[in-house]
Amino acid sequence: MSLGIKELILRRKTSKPVTFSDRIPDPSLVRELIETGRHAPNHHRTEPARFYLLDQERIQEVGRLFGEVVAGDGSEPALIERGKKKAREWGSSPGLLIVTCHTDPDSELARKKPAVIEENYATCSCICQNILLLFESEGISAKWSTGPVFEHPDFSQVIGMQSPQCEKVVALLFYGYSETGLPERTYSPLDSHLRDFTA
Ligand SMILES: Cc1cc2nc3c(=O)[nH]c(=O)nc-3n(C[C@H](O)[C@H](O)[C@H](O)COP(=O)(O)O)c2cc1C
Repeated sequence: MSLGIKELILRRKTSKPVTFSDRIPDPSLVRELIETGRHAPNHHRTEPARFYLLDQERIQEVGRLFGEVVAGDGSEPALIERGKKKAREWGSSPGLLIVTCHTDPDSELARKKPAVIEENYATCSCICQNILLLFESEGISAKWSTGPVFEHPDFSQVIGMQSPQCEKVVALLFYGYSETGLPERTYSPLDSHLRDFTA
């Protein structure tokens, strides 16, 4: 059954990678979803998003690096344990797509219009939500994480980042198939966040 945009938006929820089964979503399908998802509003048409679609070996490596970041200097046993848990959780995800935002701060555009940095980030965020909704439309569950694995000195090299000086990680999108039901999320009443002059 193909769902409309409203149903997809309402149905999408964050799923924890630990709930994903071992089944790996078809990488060629994921490539198609990225191709569609990158159609998003983009001031100056800078096409800022860069995508890193990882294989199992790299997913494990990224998990290992995050485990090290979480463990810190290794002086706190609780953090070491937490790091091991994170390394397992991340490393066993069947899918991981990393989205970065590319802006060259020395470019003529960025020097003339510094707002392009935020605008590029906004475009990348739109693209990430597009991709999450496209995942949802294919029955693929996902989680957007910003766990600071990018603080690890080996991170750029492990994912083969093209221009580490100009790229900022926007999202680690963990994805896979999950049967786990998710609770409804409640929102504040719209009227507390909306001033509607047409009412
Ligand atoms: C920019 C961004 C960063 C996020 N980073 C994390 C994260 O590091 N860890 C995490 O558990 N969830 C992260 N999330 C997921 C949110 O926690 C989740 O969207 C929120 O709990 C609302 O749940 P929902 O997505 O099911 O509506 C992030 C979401 C966004 C948009």
